[in-house]
Amino acid sequence: MHRTHTCGELTLNDLGKEVTLAGWVQKSRDLGGMTFIDVRDRYGITQLLFNMDDNAGLCEQARGLSREFVIKVTGLVVERSNKNPKMPTGDVEIKVTKLELLNAAKLPPFLIEEETDGGDDLRMKYRYLDLRRSPVRNNLILRHKMAQEVRKYLDAQDFLEVETPVLIKSTPEGARDFVVPSRMNPGEFYALPQSPQTFKQLLMVSGFDRYFQIVKCFRDEDLRADRQPEFTQIDCEMAFIEQEDILNTFEGLIRHLFKAIKDIDIDAVPRLYYQDAMRMYGSDKPDTRFGMLFTELNEIVKGHNFPVFDGAELVVGVNASGCAHYTRKQLDELTDFIKRPQIGATGLVYCRYNTDGTLKSSVDKFYGEDELKKWAVAFNAQPGDLMLIMAGPTEKVRKQLNELRLEMGNRLGLRDKNKFSPLWVLDFPLLEWDEETGRYHAMHHPFTSPKPEDIALLDSNPGAVRANAYDLVINGTEVGGGSIRIHSRDLQSLMFKHLGFTPEEAQKQFGFLMNAFEYGAPPHGGIAFGFDRLVSIFAGLDSIRDVIAFPKNNSGKDVMIDSPATISEEQLKELCIKTTV
Ligand code: AMO
Repeated sequence: MHRTHTCGELTLNDLGKEVTLAGWVQKSRDLGGMTFIDVRDRYGITQLLFNMDDNAGLCEQARGLSREFVIKVTGLVVERSNKNPKMPTGDVEIKVTKLELLNAAKLPPFLIEEETDGGDDLRMKYRYLDLRRSPVRNNLILRHKMAQEVRKYLDAQDFLEVETPVLIKSTPEGARDFVVPSRMNPGEFYALPQSPQTFKQLLMVSGFDRYFQIVKCFRDEDLRADRQPEFTQIDCEMAFIEQEDILNTFEGLIRHLFKAIKDIDIDAVPRLYYQDAMRMYGSDKPDTRFGMLFTELNEIVKGHNFPVFDGAELVVGVNASGCAHYTRKQLDELTDFIKRPQIGATGLVYCRYNTDGTLKSSVDKFYGEDELKKWAVAFNAQPGDLMLIMAGPTEKVRKQLNELRLEMGNRLGLRDKNKFSPLWVLDFPLLEWDEETGRYHAMHHPFTSPKPEDIALLDSNPGAVRANAYDLVINGTEVGGGSIRIHSRDLQSLMFKHLGFTPEEAQKQFGFLMNAFEYGAPPHGGIAFGFDRLVSIFAGLDSIRDVIAFPKNNSGKDVMIDSPATISEEQLKELCIKTTV
């Protein structure tokens, strides 16, 4: 038997027991007469004691052990004289009578402890060692628990877990496809699913009614902290439902997860229309852990010969509570922040509402005290506050002010990782104009149903058509998105027409779905959650990489297995792929 117990479970209740443990050497301390070794496994750490007086040979053997050697020990559980209240096993130690070296180990390239000295690249190259560290391991344990709770909740609601294929053809979710060449069909390619969207809709046509899948999706897009080329969705679809049923069912899922995993009761999730989210926060995924809503100022600031405001489509600002004391340097920092190329604003106007009641702005030349008082009223500002104002084309300035709002939220410590603020954003536009291609694209995906009352606008004002589409946002991250689907062939054809497909192209690419709609498609809709994002929010982490066992780096590479990699001429030939190099 390799072990009778794990390294995380022995306590004073086990005193006097003979036990066998196995694990990795975390560290050793040689105190001359005695040697202490911490042995670690997935469950915890236990202290081992080797006593020179009891068994000099064994003690010598123990001294020869280095970090990460794999060992098996047998011994007696005894009470520690020097207890460690921080460890669950901290009251006891094992007086070792037998030691077996199961495998020696090279010196690891970084410290395998809670805090490590290893940089990102090194830890990724040796990810299997990084995964031995408890914070990384705990993230994966959390992920496992969340997946179990998702299954428990959805199973109880009669959802069936169905696997859909991975070798498919393109599903338009807005990213590029990863493709796989077909040896048996020379010159032809499979695409990896960006999501199982069309399959889950076909399952509704098949009568499955309630489907879910915890499923890998693949998207060839630029990577960020919350994006990986392969990621996991909790993908769901329901038939014979309306939007309200979906919102309730999945609000229930989120509430269940918070309760089961974190013992947090979440109130009814507030709802915001897309248009209002853009107007009040300049973002379709607002962080609602804090206020600082936008105040529009066009009506009170125009006509005072300040050309920046007079010429702007929108003048809008936020009130930073208690920030009137900001120094010139701090204000310059904020101005530099919004002028960075990623944000691209031209400038920032500020107005201090001093604690003595006076008002002082950076544009005093154009606005007297009486005017500034009107600003303070509009912002609902109090003495001690700082008003920050930007001007420009509506859409652009809103996005820029959103960045400033989030930055102020960070600076003021308002984005607490232990606070959770979920939000539904509803009624997204159906279409979005793409400057590059000069045409409309589906904002969610082409299977999303327009609001029936807006269908007439498709010809006259396509950008104004609202969709039955919704996102779930938590703390400013888009955690999930979905829609009520089109289930009639005619409406789906019309949609493809508006997206610039010829009837032939639409039939070639999506004929299978439109044909299925002719065989009794029920009304249906669904949602998919980004599982990695959800876990990282629960873990209080900024990057989804930390909750993925073997993630890719920002260049889409797995540096541990060295992938992607070239393949042999022979393989290329077999796949009928010609290279130019
Ligand atoms: P959508 O494209 O909005 O919808 O994706 C759903 C959720 O998946 C997560 N997500 C990602 N997570 C990590 N890395 C990525 N590259 C990545 N891309 C997306 C986000 C997002 O909210 N088929 C539809 C869903 C539906 O309509 O039911 C879909 O895939 O959290």
